[in-house]
Amino acid sequence: MAGRVEGKVAVLIGGGQTAGETVGNGRATALVLAREGARVFVVDRDLVSADETAKMIKEQGGIASSCQADVTSEEQVEMAIKSCVEQFGRLDILHNNVGASVALKDGSATELETDAFDQIYAVNLRGMWLPSKHALPIMREQNNGSIINISSMAVFSGSYPFVGYKTTKAAIIALTENIASANAEYSIRANTVLPGLINTPMAIEARVSAGADRGELVAQRDGQVPLGRKMGTGWDIANASLFLHSDEAQFITGIALRVDGGRSISG
Ligand SMILES: NC(=O)c1ccc[n+]([C@@H]2O[C@H](COP(=O)([O-])OP(=O)(O)OC[C@H]3O[C@@H](n4cnc5c(N)ncnc54)[C@H](O)[C@@H]3O)[C@@H](O)[C@H]2O)c1
Repeated sequence: MAGRVEGKVAVLIGGGQTAGETVGNGRATALVLAREGARVFVVDRDLVSADETAKMIKEQGGIASSCQADVTSEEQVEMAIKSCVEQFGRLDILHNNVGASVALKDGSATELETDAFDQIYAVNLRGMWLPSKHALPIMREQNNGSIINISSMAVFSGSYPFVGYKTTKAAIIALTENIASANAEYSIRANTVLPGLINTPMAIEARVSAGADRGELVAQRDGQVPLGRKMGTGWDIANASLFLHSDEAQFITGIALRVDGGRSISG
């Protein structure tokens, strides 16, 4: 039986992962897309980590390649997209996973420094748009494509404390709607995925480094999730993304899919 994204070529921006005990959203998505038949081009600022993801894919019988690029550099992003097309001949799926908050010194409205604000915008928002800028012309020529931009349920949380992450992640929804509406005529779909509380190194390790107790942090996050009283995992984000990238979602574009274990609809 053919895989759900058989024959497609996927670029995974931020397809390495923060070191830690669990799988990250980006790496899990790269692995799931490869298992379902896509050839995956893994892009990350951290080449060692991108290589590791590509190696895991190959060990599981998939096809992958990796390259280094920082999403704050347009030149590097453009090169990465070009390299993917040179190696695999096309580009069907663009998955934009890069995002950070605490690691970029995010803060409240009174604490956030302007340099940190600018850097968070360069990584989380400009870095989410640039890969589309360079992938869309290729997808338009193919008359086919799927883009997912990873946002966050922090957008809708009344208690999320930091300005940079919340505002960039909110803007990603508008960015995605804009791309979706301008490119529907080329059969290109663009959707946002909003992870809720997910047990990934990105969410846990930065806070543990900042002084949080790991056990307490995990228990406190688990306790806020209605479904099973447990955080989601990178696989939950990967499986939701797999559906949206596959042809099963061929009539779905411009949506913002909440993957949060029901947290946003419980008191
Ligand atoms: N884990 C959660 O609870 C949670 C919740 C909501 C949203 N998210 C979102 O999920 C996404 C990340 O999830 P993850 O688990 O894969 O994180 P991760 O930190 O494991 O992976 C992100 C990857 O992006 C790379 N990266 C960082 N800055 C980069 C840059 N400037 N250029 C290129 N690559 C860069 C990192 O090296 C890393 O490999 C983010 O967009 C985040 O906002 C996560």
